[in-house]
Amino acid sequence: MAQLIDGKQLSNQVLQKVASEVEYLKGEYGVVPTLAVVLVGEDPASQVYVRNKVKRAKEAGMGSIEYRLDTETTQGDLNQLVAQLNNDPQVHGILVQLPLPPHLDEDEVIASIDPAKDVDGFHPLNVGALAAGQASLVPCTPQGCMIMLRQVHQDLSGKHAVVVGRSNIVGKPMMALLLQADCTVTMAHSRTRDIESLCRNADIVVAAAGRKELVNADWIKPGATVIDVGINAIEADGKRKLVGDVAFAPVSETAGAISPVPGGVGPMTIACLLLNTTRAARRQLA
Ligand code: GUN
Repeated sequence: MAQLIDGKQLSNQVLQKVASEVEYLKGEYGVVPTLAVVLVGEDPASQVYVRNKVKRAKEAGMGSIEYRLDTETTQGDLNQLVAQLNNDPQVHGILVQLPLPPHLDEDEVIASIDPAKDVDGFHPLNVGALAAGQASLVPCTPQGCMIMLRQVHQDLSGKHAVVVGRSNIVGKPMMALLLQADCTVTMAHSRTRDIESLCRNADIVVAAAGRKELVNADWIKPGATVIDVGINAIEADGKRKLVGDVAFAPVSETAGAISPVPGGVGPMTIACLLLNTTRAARRQLA
């Protein structure tokens, strides 16, 4: 059976580091690292994510401000709120929860966030810095996946990693981080031919396709490491439950190490968001 990569436990280690950094910034500089989270509309999954982000920020001793705007919010109103947060010295990190309602332009909103406060790492300047291997605010989910991978592999150099899914939020930044760690990286996506054999050649598979239980045991080389980024809600036995992009039970018989859903990447993402917020706060010290 595969080693379980426990995201809950690992995220607690990251959160402890965050909490001690928060104490330091408060004690030494009188600064309370503060995250502003903006949610537009009523998307139920987004509401859960935002609630968790704000709750964890408070637990870590950070400031957090939640803005809930209604579905009909205009681009002008949203841009104005972002501008106000950009100019507020008490706000160190800004997160606009995605997806936005369809009448709003996500690219425009992301580009309007001050790159120094862009704790999601989605601003084109931060995306470019990451691609060029420069220090920047790195997207939270891939950052969490790297911490998980380093639990299993002391040295990632030369490992063949396949990333399944090419989103801006996960797949593309994941590719950049794996490359920075000297992995050989293959990007697979919905148009990739014979994705199974590609994955079967991999030492590491990161599944971020947004398709429930897409990755099965016959896709995985015995002993490989599998990171499951998927969060898919399904009905089973009349109950709602979450499953990943990996068929957990069969794959855990083949893989050497695997992250579960829930309790894997999810808590790591939130911990890395708070880590980014303390980093942003530190860089904004006068
Ligand atoms: N929606 C799903 N994941 C994310 C994320 O990491 N950041 C933001 N802002 N929205 C998301």
